[in-house]
Amino acid sequence: MDAQRAARFPFVPTDTPPLVIDRTEDVWLIRDNGNRILDAGGGAIVTNIGHGRADVVRAATEALGQVDYVVPLWATENRVALIEELTEHWLPDGFTQASFFCGGSESVDAAVRLARTHHVSNGDHGRWKVIGRDVSYHGSTLSGLSVGNHDRRRSGLEPMLNDHPKSDWLDAESLAKVIEREDTDTVSAFIAEPINGASGAAMVPPAGYWPAVEEACRANGVLIIVDEVMTGLGRTGLKWGHEHFGITPDIIVGGKGLSGGYAPMGGMYTTRTIVDPIAAAGNSLMYFTFSGADLGCAVSVKVLQIMREEGLVDRAAQMGQRLRSRMEEELADHPNVADIRGLGLMQGIELVKDRNSGESFTRSDEFAQQVAMEAIDRGVWIYPCGSGPVVDGLLFGPPYTITDDHIETIVGVTSEAITAAASRLS
Ligand SMILES: Cc1ncc(COP(=O)(O)O)c(C=O)c1O
Repeated sequence: MDAQRAARFPFVPTDTPPLVIDRTEDVWLIRDNGNRILDAGGGAIVTNIGHGRADVVRAATEALGQVDYVVPLWATENRVALIEELTEHWLPDGFTQASFFCGGSESVDAAVRLARTHHVSNGDHGRWKVIGRDVSYHGSTLSGLSVGNHDRRRSGLEPMLNDHPKSDWLDAESLAKVIEREDTDTVSAFIAEPINGASGAAMVPPAGYWPAVEEACRANGVLIIVDEVMTGLGRTGLKWGHEHFGITPDIIVGGKGLSGGYAPMGGMYTTRTIVDPIAAAGNSLMYFTFSGADLGCAVSVKVLQIMREEGLVDRAAQMGQRLRSRMEEELADHPNVADIRGLGLMQGIELVKDRNSGESFTRSDEFAQQVAMEAIDRGVWIYPCGSGPVVDGLLFGPPYTITDDHIETIVGVTSEAITAAASRLS
């Protein structure tokens, strides 16, 4: 595609035309000039089974040939099959209720509404606040931005956002204090990612954090919503990120890996304890027009089956360890690397200007973006991220099918790209 045509694509015009991807295959994004990019970011930490799976394409074609649009309230074979696949093989015990959406933001929005509707149905009309965390990311709807705290993505929109309270991200005591300060009877839920993704480059809380959060929430009638949009479905080496911390949430939100990127999908999962009062009160939750599209459900069933048949969750754990140890060997002493962290195949690097002083580059330097551009020039896609104190981060979330050779390429290119971007800035 010529650059002029490609330049028509960005909604807000930019100086450089966007990359044009012609084809996707296995772990590769193939450009229109034929050059291959290794998908170390899994797109936006989405691609779990890899690209171009014929079985998924077949499932999608068959689904579309059978059923196209049906209102979200009615059952179809694929909708029910997806609930069965999830409840039988993926969700924690007791999570029998599943509802599907077009992505993570819609699913977060639904979860926030579900928590409130549960309380209202119980006659607890005062509970509406959703305590989030500083820093966090829960999507870019106004509700997602309100309960999250990704300052770059909220920037300029603040007056429009509902000012839900925030707790300090590593500090469960701070959550207990916020619940008390806000008046317990006004708090509906606490929402957090088990491991921070886009806001903090795979920040993993210490072992005691989540159990203490659970205690504070249970003691105060506050529901726990875990946002597993990024961490869910094997990404961290277990089925769900929260499993690493031994807690039981009330509501799980998922997206990204549910369809492996083959269709726009998100999900919200919960128990009868949460939905029974809603049913008893004669209340309901409004759907979106395209919620639970049959095509997305059919694709997701196939993606989840492939993950089970190929043991890909265990593989994510194993290859994640490999990626992490190679990063530590090659990058831990790099002058611009402050930290390497994560679980499974969700790994992050925090970047700085100088690791000795801890000084960051300025935001306008866009260091992480520059590193990502340098990496693309060398044939690897890495997801640049960061907010608040994490000015620059890199997030790695490749398909669970990557090999040792791919890992060598990722680590080698990352090191070169950081050095190249840093020397250009200084
Ligand atoms: C933790 C988390 N929640 C919610 C979202 C929003 O999902 P989506 O972009 O599919 O709307 C994201 C997206 O990156 C995410 O990482």
